[in-house]
Amino acid sequence: MNETIKTILTRKSIRSYKEDQILDSDLELLIDAAIHAPTGGNSQSWNFAVIQNREKLLELNSLVKESFANLCVDENTYRSKRKGKISAQQETYNFYFNAPTLIIVSNTREYPNAMADCSAAIENILLAAKSLGLASCWINQLTWFCDEEKMRKTLTDYGIPETYIVCGAVALGYSASNDDKLVPRKKADVNIIR
Ligand SMILES: Cc1cc2nc3c(=O)[nH]c(=O)nc-3n(C[C@H](O)[C@H](O)[C@H](O)COP(=O)(O)O)c2cc1C
Repeated sequence: MNETIKTILTRKSIRSYKEDQILDSDLELLIDAAIHAPTGGNSQSWNFAVIQNREKLLELNSLVKESFANLCVDENTYRSKRKGKISAQQETYNFYFNAPTLIIVSNTREYPNAMADCSAAIENILLAAKSLGLASCWINQLTWFCDEEKMRKTLTDYGIPETYIVCGAVALGYSASNDDKLVPRKKADVNIIR
């Protein structure tokens, strides 16, 4: 099996991180991998906000906790949001799992391929991270709450243009988890018509 396929098949989401920061040279490679993802019409209209400042990350965490507290849920609400609302009540809740780096990927609100382009970039980051021996996890809370007033102001302070929506984020660092079990995949529904 070649190294690329091995990387794809062994990547997993990590939810426990060491405090050690990732190397600047690795961060550069991750962003380079991200921007080599395909984009609709070669748009490349994405923005990458890399947050490595602990206080600024904790500020985002407080805002996420506040957003969950204000969130009304019922039985039709997306399961992860319902679970998130409960978890966020805990003192120790941290939506990026205390990873030392969070890359927030955003794109122009009106662009119809915003989510698709950013998702392709995020997957490149996850795979590049795995290949560099880094741990990663896709993080969705800022996508849900980027339009909350206080959150928006903070994201703007962190350099994300006001007209951009957060399409996703990635927690990055060195794994502090010893669970290397991969999440099993369901059998895919594939029809090959020849
Ligand atoms: C769009 C999207 C949003 C996700 N959001 C989160 C998240 O907010 N927090 C989290 O812990 N994992 C998140 N994940 C990771 C999934 O839970 C994970 O990929 C899935 O459980 C399969 O596990 P694996 O990545 O280890 O294969 C997200 C994944 C995707 C694709």
